[in-house]
Amino acid sequence: MKDVEGKVAFITGGASGMGLGMARSFAAAGMKVMIGDIEAEVAQKAVDELKGKGFDAACVQCDVSSMESVQAAADKTIETFGKVHIVSNNAGIAVGGYSESCSMRNWNWVVDVNLWGVVYGLQAFVPHILSQDEGGHVISTASMAGMVGLRGAGPYNATKFAVVGMMETFAADHRKHNIGASVLCPGIVATNIGHSGRNRPDEYGGAVKPNEKDRTAEMLAAGLDPDIVGDLVLEAVQEDQFYIFTDPGLKHLIETRCERIIAGYDWAANCKALDGAVQAGGLPG
Ligand SMILES: NC(=O)c1ccc[n+]([C@@H]2O[C@H](COP(=O)([O-])OP(=O)(O)OC[C@H]3O[C@@H](n4cnc5c(N)ncnc54)[C@H](O)[C@@H]3O)[C@@H](O)[C@H]2O)c1
Repeated sequence: MKDVEGKVAFITGGASGMGLGMARSFAAAGMKVMIGDIEAEVAQKAVDELKGKGFDAACVQCDVSSMESVQAAADKTIETFGKVHIVSNNAGIAVGGYSESCSMRNWNWVVDVNLWGVVYGLQAFVPHILSQDEGGHVISTASMAGMVGLRGAGPYNATKFAVVGMMETFAADHRKHNIGASVLCPGIVATNIGHSGRNRPDEYGGAVKPNEKDRTAEMLAAGLDPDIVGDLVLEAVQEDQFYIFTDPGLKHLIETRCERIIAGYDWAANCKALDGAVQAGGLPG
């Protein structure tokens, strides 16, 4: 979507980190910005900042793990700005641990926010973009953990791989409708993601305080400025770029994964069990 001026953008998790970076960049490019975030007060602060610079912005409290809440945010966006063109399914939380031993409550939390949150964003907003017939762009935030398996992060990996797969399909499905798509796969970015536990609702075990000894915070603090990610996402929307990587220095991780996958095919081509087997000769879609 080359011409973004005057367009309406909705951003989940727009009160902090990369979502706030996007809100700043989108607003500076002339978009009307609606921030949806579970942290209402922080979202309001972000809106005050944007309005203080003369930009058009508003916010709505939104929990992306609830379809009703995301639907209400979509209704509020249309009520406030009349339309919606750009949707950023960005809110997410980090949960560490092995798939087999991560508590089921944390498993459910990470799936409900990181995966269902994106699904609900598509369900609530894409029908508006389609019915307006003015084009649009959907960005969903995955991670480098959606590209390569990271040790000790099975549940998080599962949600982020799912987002990448879903957005690859979404891009193919909606090219004909003039809706662009991107999947943001950040490396390390200096945000508050290390303190995700602050937003864990009671049903998943309640809020957790950051662990002073946790070295994640140090690593994140050394990461990329989230405002740069905001500019990067804006550029990707304008240039219709699908994969958005924030750290080109991590390309070798993708190369290694691709080499391992190709090696798997080479192994299959030579294995005894498939020798002479009849194949369908394609995939649907
Ligand atoms: N920071 C990194 O290094 C990094 C790397 C890869 C991917 N990511 C992804 O980037 C996205 C943005 O995170 P960030 O790093 O900017 O972190 P952040 O914690 O600074 O921002 C996340 C925002 O999401 C909001 N949020 C949390 N749960 C929510 C819910 N249920 N409903 C609505 N809003 C909710 C938070 O209040 C916060 O404003 C996430 O999807 C995360 O998984 C981050």
